[in-house]
Amino acid sequence: MKKLFTEFSIKNVKMKNRICVPPMVIGFRDDGYVAFENVERYKELAKGGAGLIIQEATCVNCDGKLMEKQLGIWKDDQIEGLKSIVDAVHEEGCPIFIQIHHAGVVGISEDPICPSPYEYKNYAGSVVGHEMTREDIKSIQNDYIEAARRAYESGYDGVELHGCHAYLISQFLNKKVNKRTDEYGKNPEKFVVEIIDGIRKVTPKEFIVGIRLGGFEPTIEDGIHYAKVLEKNGIDFLDISYGFMSEQEMHVNEEYKYSNAVYAAQKIKEQVSIPVFAVNGINSAEMAEEILNQTNVDIVDIAKGFLINPNWANDAREGKDTGKCLNCAKCMWFGQSKVCAGKVIFERDNKQK
Ligand SMILES: Cc1cc2nc3c(=O)[nH]c(=O)nc-3n(C[C@H](O)[C@H](O)[C@H](O)COP(=O)(O)O)c2cc1C
Repeated sequence: MKKLFTEFSIKNVKMKNRICVPPMVIGFRDDGYVAFENVERYKELAKGGAGLIIQEATCVNCDGKLMEKQLGIWKDDQIEGLKSIVDAVHEEGCPIFIQIHHAGVVGISEDPICPSPYEYKNYAGSVVGHEMTREDIKSIQNDYIEAARRAYESGYDGVELHGCHAYLISQFLNKKVNKRTDEYGKNPEKFVVEIIDGIRKVTPKEFIVGIRLGGFEPTIEDGIHYAKVLEKNGIDFLDISYGFMSEQEMHVNEEYKYSNAVYAAQKIKEQVSIPVFAVNGINSAEMAEEILNQTNVDIVDIAKGFLINPNWANDAREGKDTGKCLNCAKCMWFGQSKVCAGKVIFERDNKQK
């Protein structure tokens, strides 16, 4: 595991290895405030030896939630609770970024917004998002900027803009969703670039501002284009995942060894010089090491691996069993974490630990 356990830095933030726990929403409270369980969860993850943790999608506006039980960063009095997560993670010697998020048309709002009217179909039926006015755009951009200011005041080492997986920034970037005829449609990146500029004005220059970006938005050429535009506009890192789920055009050779999201990260890394993170289906330390060496990405995200085994990185370093995600059709962690088969098997096989 030569490369996996080498140090890495983004600006002044030092990571002891190349392993990142990416954002994963595991909600506890309906009101957006931090619960004791949130703090305990991040403490346990930080003890697990990762080089970096990115806190779960945390909402910039209570109307932009993706689910009821989601953390929030839309009010100054939420800072106190968020600070306790930061302190718990820092005490274990691990840096932490926070993912800031607005769901747009794919959220739970009864009257959701979208760059332009778009019919989003979900398991419960379908909903049409109403077109954002210029005032809506300015107001939501300000929510992201204020959220980043609160993140800085809470002690986070940086923010990650949630710019993929069909949420609001992804809705702007994907031309199949964003049909606006003004400059926010002609230059789909304008929405997020203005947010980045605004964050830079309210935080010091050492504060890290990165993005989780869709590699296929809708095509890989668009993903590469946006990555380059964001690099030019001063983004500090690119965490590459999927784009607007139902509006992607992924033409990846079936022979490609890893997931399509890893493919996108590899292609983007060839075109930019800022740090690039890869994610999806990286289910062993051997695979993580191979991806770092063969694709040239800088960081690997291990998501469900850490849900099954919060000590994933320490176990990987010691050559122990890290557990395996069984890729259930619907991830059991959404609501029924106790019956996650990968976790049950891992805990049974490692009882004596
Ligand atoms: C329970 C759960 C919650 C998630 N929440 C988020 C989130 O808040 N933000 C995000 O960008 N991705 C989220 N994801 C996606 C993961 O960060 C990751 O991209 C995905 O699980 C694939 O990585 P893996 O194969 O290592 O699990 C979530 C995944 C799971 C299983």
